[in-house]
Parts: sequence; structure tokens; C-alpha cells
Amino acid sequence: MNGKPSADALQSLIEPLCEWYETHQRDLPWRRDRDAYHIWVSEIMLQQTRVEAVRPYYERFMTALPDIRTLAECPENDLLKLWEGLGYYSRVRNMQKTAKMLTCAEPAGPRLPSDREELLRLPGIGDYTAGAIASIAFGQPVPAVDGNVMRILARLCTDGRDVREAAVKKEYSRRLEEAMRGYFGEERRFTPGGFNQALMDLGASVCLPNAQPRCGQCPLAASCRARREGEELRYPVRSRGKARRTENRTVLLIRDGKHVVLRKRPEKGLLAGLYEFPSLEGTAGREQALRAAEEAGFVPLQIRPLEPAKHIFTHVEWHMTAYEIRIAEPEGSGGDWFLAGTEQIEKDYPVPSAFSAYTRYLQIRTGAEAKRS
Ligand code: ADE
Repeated sequence: MNGKPSADALQSLIEPLCEWYETHQRDLPWRRDRDAYHIWVSEIMLQQTRVEAVRPYYERFMTALPDIRTLAECPENDLLKLWEGLGYYSRVRNMQKTAKMLTCAEPAGPRLPSDREELLRLPGIGDYTAGAIASIAFGQPVPAVDGNVMRILARLCTDGRDVREAAVKKEYSRRLEEAMRGYFGEERRFTPGGFNQALMDLGASVCLPNAQPRCGQCPLAASCRARREGEELRYPVRSRGKARRTENRTVLLIRDGKHVVLRKRPEKGLLAGLYEFPSLEGTAGREQALRAAEEAGFVPLQIRPLEPAKHIFTHVEWHMTAYEIRIAEPEGSGGDWFLAGTEQIEKDYPVPSAFSAYTRYLQIRTGAEAKRS
């Protein structure tokens, strides 16, 4: 393959790759069966998160919400708590929207559709997820193209085009689909879902991103042009994205013996509806931090600076300085700033991992480690 992958050339890779997958596939909890709900939840979790990080979340989520209807009926706060630490919370909100739609349409037994085009109409389900569900759960011969697949194909055929370009991804999808329809149009030992997952596993464990790929273990090495030319690391070609904006914030850990002040974030925008330690825009000094605590109705006794921390979102980077402010036993609450016990936070309040430096400091366990009620 030279420059662009042809459907014929891709078709000839399906069998060696599926054979490799038979003996090398990773043992993952969502691969125990082909239940569409299981595949759906795992794919949504895996969209921006590493497999190893997803594992405990997936197990806990399935215990709490074993099917579409329980997901539809879950109170939003509990849902956010189950997602706490995974980030990109609109993923789980969209999943619930879809679960509600499916439950409304078929109250006796809500089901995901098997057809890719129908899947694509549901909130939160894009090309990749629709392809993964349709192929893995329903055996449809359709691809699921993500960054891993793009990297493998770009290396196989030394494609020097920018893989961030939507047109390149579209073309890869079209050619892969043609190859899959050609191959799986006949009775086969392998499945479309197996093939797509084989690509995922090859991308994760052999054709590594930003590292020397393990070509000695690759079932496709003999067909790989980048390998032949010794240019594995030149591909994929990726344009630089837009630089992130930096936001300075001053985080306030206002606490008495057992409690710390939280507030709920607005219902729209970044980390909507989650809970956080109050913060001030910019880099505030001690006086300003103390004044903010007083204006919220607390009586500061002591203040000390904490280690700064950083958190990187897709479009913005938070650079946080922080103060711990010890307060006297409070009499009332401070408006939308309220005191919560650390155990109660672990059980009930979803706090995003942007604040993990400070939840850790307070010995509050969050994410898959948090205590559940
Ligand atoms: N990455 C995205 N989807 C995946 C899956 N189903 N298995 C492993 N890694 C994945």
C-alpha cells in the first residue's frame, strides 16, 4: 500500500489480524458477552479514557445500573458520582438521555437498535461508537475508526496526510467498510466485531502511539510500508491543534475539624452540575482569600498556602494556587457555599478530578476509589 489504503489491500489483512486476535486479545470485562448495553457503556467510557482506568468504573457502573432502564431512572447526582473522575461528563448525561428515549419507546424492554444509522440518531453516539456497537453486539460489517485505527492504517501505507482531517478519516472508514463487506459477505470463522477489536488491541499493544512500535510482534509487519522503510515514527502525521488557554484560579479549602466548604457548579458549561471547592479567578493573595471566606459568612482563624496544582482540559488549562483556611465552628451556611463532611463528600457529592490534588490532601477518596452509599 502506498499513500492510501485500498479496500483490496485492507481485505487481505482481515484474516491475519483476526487470527492474531484469537490468541492475543486482552481479557476485558466488557468482552464477557456481546450484550449491546455492555458494549455501549464500555465504548462511551473508553472514548477519552485508558482501558486500565476504565476497568473499575465499568464494573461498578454495571453493578449499580445493570440495564438500560436502571440507567434511565438513575438520579442525576448518583449518575455523576458513578462517573466522577472519568471526565467529559456530557458523555454520561447523553447516555442517560438515550436510555430515557429507549425506555420511553419500549417500556417493557428497552433495547438499542442494531442498525448503524439508527444508532447514529441517538444522543452521544457518533460514528465510532455506532460502528463499535453495530459490529461487536450485532455482527454488522461496519468499521469503528478512532485514532488507533488511523495510526495503524497511516503506518501500513505511509499515508502522509494529516490524520486530523475529517476527509482522511472518512476515506479510511469507507475503504474499511468496503473491505469488511467484501470479506464478511461470505460465511467466515471470524466476526466483524472481532476484526474491529483486533484493530483496537493492535493499536493498544503493538502499533504504539508516540513510541517505537513492537513490529516484531505485529501480524501485519510484512505488509507495512512504514516498517519496510524504517519510518514507523514518522506516521501518523498530525497537525498541531490550537493552543490551550490558561486560566489561573485560587482554590480555597475552607474547613473546620471535619468539614470543608463546597459549592455546586452552574448547570451549564465546563463540569456542569458537579461540586467543587470554591475558587477565585486569578492568583489571589492571603488578604483576598480571607476576605472571600468572610464575605461568605465564615470566621477565619488561620490561613496557609498549599502546593499549586495544574489540570488540563481539552481547551483550557487550570493553574491553581490554593489556601487552606481554618474557620471557627460556623453558625449558618454561606449561601451557595456550604460545609460538607468528608465522608459525605465521598458518598454523595461528585467532585471532578481537576481538584484531585486537594481532595487527596484532605484524604477524600474520589472516583472508582470512593465509598458508595
Ligand atoms: N478502545 C475503544 N473501544 C475498545 C474496546 N472495545 N476494547 C478495547 N479497547 C477499546
